[in-house]
Amino acid sequence: MAKEVVLSGIRPTGFLHLGNYFGAMRNYVRMQDEFDCYFFVANWHALTTHPDTQTLKAAVHRVIAENIACGLDPEKVCLYVQSDVPEIAELYLYLNTLAYKGELEKTTTFKDKSRQQPENINAGLLTYPVLQAADILIHRAVKVPVGKDQEQHLEMARTFAERFNHRYGDVLPLPYAFNYGGELTKILSLDGIGKMSKSENQLATLYLADEDDVIRKKIMKAKTDAGPSEPNSVKPDYIQNLFTLMNIVSTADTLEKFNADFNNSSSGNCIIRYGDMKKQLAEDMVQFIKPIRTKAADLQQNKELLEKIIQHGAQKARVSASATLQIVRKAILG
Ligand code: TYM
Repeated sequence: MAKEVVLSGIRPTGFLHLGNYFGAMRNYVRMQDEFDCYFFVANWHALTTHPDTQTLKAAVHRVIAENIACGLDPEKVCLYVQSDVPEIAELYLYLNTLAYKGELEKTTTFKDKSRQQPENINAGLLTYPVLQAADILIHRAVKVPVGKDQEQHLEMARTFAERFNHRYGDVLPLPYAFNYGGELTKILSLDGIGKMSKSENQLATLYLADEDDVIRKKIMKAKTDAGPSEPNSVKPDYIQNLFTLMNIVSTADTLEKFNADFNNSSSGNCIIRYGDMKKQLAEDMVQFIKPIRTKAADLQQNKELLEKIIQHGAQKARVSASATLQIVRKAILG
């Protein structure tokens, strides 16, 4: 039986961080043995917010290198760059006729970006979710591993696919956002304000390229409080975030110890010591990030190898993309 198709993408708009890792890349690595996987660098999408392309190529290389350093095997998955697959642009054109101005204007990311860059509310920004739908549908992907912030874009991709099928026949499978365990992930900033992000709030975001001491400093500054005032309290979101990070980089015993300390605490008897927890988390995080940082840096030195991987990915992606486009053209144009 053919394996289900998986697709996801990352914009090359800055350094990759733990949110990208836990929301997306960790799943990519797990999925590569089970599914037919396509992962790509969304450099066209980057143009909607980052029109200056001087550092774009290096940023594309960095995303590819960081994905491989996190465990993606370019022999097992198709790893490519969006602009190498022009078929996506043609599908984007068709899907644009199925997307309405009103719904695009209501998209959360469009509203956010319009506020952030009022001088550059371009049509690419408005139709960003349509291009994202084309990315997914061009390979007829059904599972899309993404973080929580992409949920609305995935709902829109599904809507556009449904409209397409309704109008032109049953051609496109419906895609769904995916995370092992169900709930999509959102990693908060260490200061508890907003989510970790490639280009904002950098002192409260842990990057896969951060040096050991930078990691330690950022974690020791993470927001905490006086501790729970009753046993078995609900954790505030910024505390839960530290536990989430610990769950990923520390041993089960360590996590259990701090969880037990949290749950046993009460105002007169506060057992959990956030200072100790952060020290432990910082050391475990350093051990986690160091090999990724080192491997990604080495790979970025080897531009020839990266270019070879990118070319190989483009060839494979275009085979799948042109097969879909042939069916789509026939359905629309006869
Ligand atoms: P991008 O580049 O912003 O983020 C890449 C992936 O990382 C996830 N992510 C997070 N997850 C948890 N917590 C966070 N703080 C966090 N920050 C980022 C994102 O959800 C995403 O999975 N529009 C997409 C790129 C894209 C795409 C696609 C994705 C273009 N076409 C097709 C999937 C399918 C984006 O801007 O991701």
